[in-house]
Amino acid sequence: MRQESIKLLNAKVKKNITSGYFFRTGFEAQTYIHEPSIHPNVIPSKKMEIIFATGNPNKIKEVNQILGDTNIIIKGLKDIGCTEEIPETQPSIQGNAIQKADYVTQKYQVNCFSEDTGLEVDALNGEPGVNTARYAGESKDAGANMAKILEKLGETPNRKARFLTVIALNLEGKQHVFEGVCEGHIAYQKTGIGGFGYDPIFLPQGYEGKSFAELTKEEKNKISHRGIAVRKLMAFLNGV
Ligand code: IMP
Repeated sequence: MRQESIKLLNAKVKKNITSGYFFRTGFEAQTYIHEPSIHPNVIPSKKMEIIFATGNPNKIKEVNQILGDTNIIIKGLKDIGCTEEIPETQPSIQGNAIQKADYVTQKYQVNCFSEDTGLEVDALNGEPGVNTARYAGESKDAGANMAKILEKLGETPNRKARFLTVIALNLEGKQHVFEGVCEGHIAYQKTGIGGFGYDPIFLPQGYEGKSFAELTKEEKNKISHRGIAVRKLMAFLNGV
């Protein structure tokens, strides 16, 4: 995607965020990537640090492993002394990912990327969306969250849903957004014991009615929203 288009798209995101609309990309069943030209300040032979806006050391380790042998080092919030809660007050997944990355970049003057994920159920007008983690309350209880969705849907035949992950990267003064979508349906009941969160009630497209919780880690990574978004980020960073 050309630089001008990226600027326009980012402006559109920001406009929709500030005007309170739930922003959709129009790329409903697929993912997209902003592929900006490499900024002239990025010197490939130099070691470059990027902060992952997370306090979860496992996520940082995983991303560093996927990155492999490059000049990029991913570090976490602790490494820059950021221990405060980062604001996530936007009405969309995209908005929250951008808000988190911007907060860290502006306050700590660092290259940074953040990730935000949500589940959107068509028959529930896109709920739980930005409330995915806390759908049934502040305790972030996965069982209660799933029960709430199943109860709200009842026997509704329209079970269409999708997981969406957005990664916002601020690198050398430019912003890049990577999106991963996994389309599927909400089951009538829980199946499987693997995974986490809503996995037992999410039936990804193309897997013959199996839930995320019934897939192996490798199978899920191949098709999952997060797997897709992270691979796009890594492909971009590996090219820097
Ligand atoms: P986060 O933005 O990665 O923290 O995800 C927000 C919430 O979405 C989590 O608390 C989970 O409930 C849910 N979630 C994210 N990814 C998945 C997934 O792959 N399977 C099931 N639930 C997920």
